[in-house]
Amino acid sequence: MSDSLLTFYSLSAILALLPIFIFILIKRKQSKPRLNLPPGNMGWPFLGETIGYLKPYSATTIGEFMEQHIARYGTIYKSKLFGEPAIVSADAGLNRFILQNEGKLFECSYPRSIGGILGKWSMLVLVGDMHRDMRVISLNFLSHARLRTHLLKEVEKQSLLVLNSWSQNSIFSAQDEAKKFTFNLMAKHIMSMDPGDIETEQLKKEYVTFMKGVVSAPLNLPGTAYRKALKSRSIILKFIEGKMEERVRRIQEGNESLEEDDLLNWVLKHSNLSTEQILDLILSLLFAGHETSSVAIALAIYFLPGSPQAIQQLREEHREIARAKKQTGEVELTWDDYKRMEFTHCVVNETLRLGNVVRFLHRKAVKDVSYKGYDIPCGWKVLPVIAAVHLDPSLFDQPQHFNPWRWQRLRQLGIPLATN
Ligand code: HEM
Repeated sequence: MSDSLLTFYSLSAILALLPIFIFILIKRKQSKPRLNLPPGNMGWPFLGETIGYLKPYSATTIGEFMEQHIARYGTIYKSKLFGEPAIVSADAGLNRFILQNEGKLFECSYPRSIGGILGKWSMLVLVGDMHRDMRVISLNFLSHARLRTHLLKEVEKQSLLVLNSWSQNSIFSAQDEAKKFTFNLMAKHIMSMDPGDIETEQLKKEYVTFMKGVVSAPLNLPGTAYRKALKSRSIILKFIEGKMEERVRRIQEGNESLEEDDLLNWVLKHSNLSTEQILDLILSLLFAGHETSSVAIALAIYFLPGSPQAIQQLREEHREIARAKKQTGEVELTWDDYKRMEFTHCVVNETLRLGNVVRFLHRKAVKDVSYKGYDIPCGWKVLPVIAAVHLDPSLFDQPQHFNPWRWQRLRQLGIPLATN
């Protein structure tokens, strides 16, 4: 048979079958129940509305994109973000519903690039049983008892170290100092590393490069921040692995130092995680603890000068505790002292509310979900926007106003912070 005859027969067959295909497609569409998706705009193919959604904005606002979308579609809307169809929720009720149904209707679903840089065993990437196991290991290490006995003492020590390094009337960057303090605290708790030691400073340098890449576009090309971060990640992991091998040797020889009561020792003794899993756990804990806490501390320093009355009340609360300790001859800060810092806790809550250190979370629906008449299809991305709840005027009176005293009233009413 000639080529042209073959082409003719093939085309005729396709044309003959076409109406049947179209008929099947229409039938399929008709047999599917119509979904009641929230209103919204899916934007451009593939990119969707991601660029507008990620456009930088002040932490104390929800940004222009969110404002416009809420005004147009309401607090629950559909979009296409991070390459996937998504439901965005600025609704306190839906956010609570999502978090309460973690593992049942929804699961963690961060973009794939996060796994590439934080590691496939990072808690932000894991789901299911492995996620639960990693969480249990971390929470057992950070137990209430340990917080009381170890963490508080170390917080006091590291704070004094930073404060004493400031000379009178000198200018300093609150963000840099907060990062230094938090890194030193985390390095001590994770691997018993001391501030100022050569290896601590080297690790800090690599960590800074690593962090720049975590928050950059995931482009693995020569010269990009992401490529440099991947290189720093390998150096950091090699460093932690070296520490691990040294520690294992000492544990086997019964030559442990009592000082090394840290996360590394804890996982080596109380878990059967592989080396790769331990490395990712340690790096992701360093990241989770450092980035959030340092930004929160810097934000408190930023907000407080706007409320001299709050500074005055903070000073009085701390002076009162110091006076009482002097009378009893106590020197170190205790858990009871910490519990007595009621107004300080209000300042922390208000900083976290207005500062929105973590603005939204990444989740995915693992089943078809229905919420207040809207359908959320299985597999769709779901983004609970915590910041929108923190800045909602129907929940917080004058939400843009730094007002720590609101927490005295809210605590009486039993209202928790969404980031808790
Ligand atoms: C102001 C300080 C902090 C804020 C605002 C904060 C906020 C958050 C938020 C919103 C999440 C949920 C992420 C999600 O589920 O998608 C989270 C998870 C997590 N945070 Fe923090 N965090 C802070 C400090 C810390 C510290 C100091 C540590 C560790 C030492 C830490 C370790 C973790 C870990 C391990 C997770 C993952 C938990 C899991 O997936 O089960 N965080 N944090």
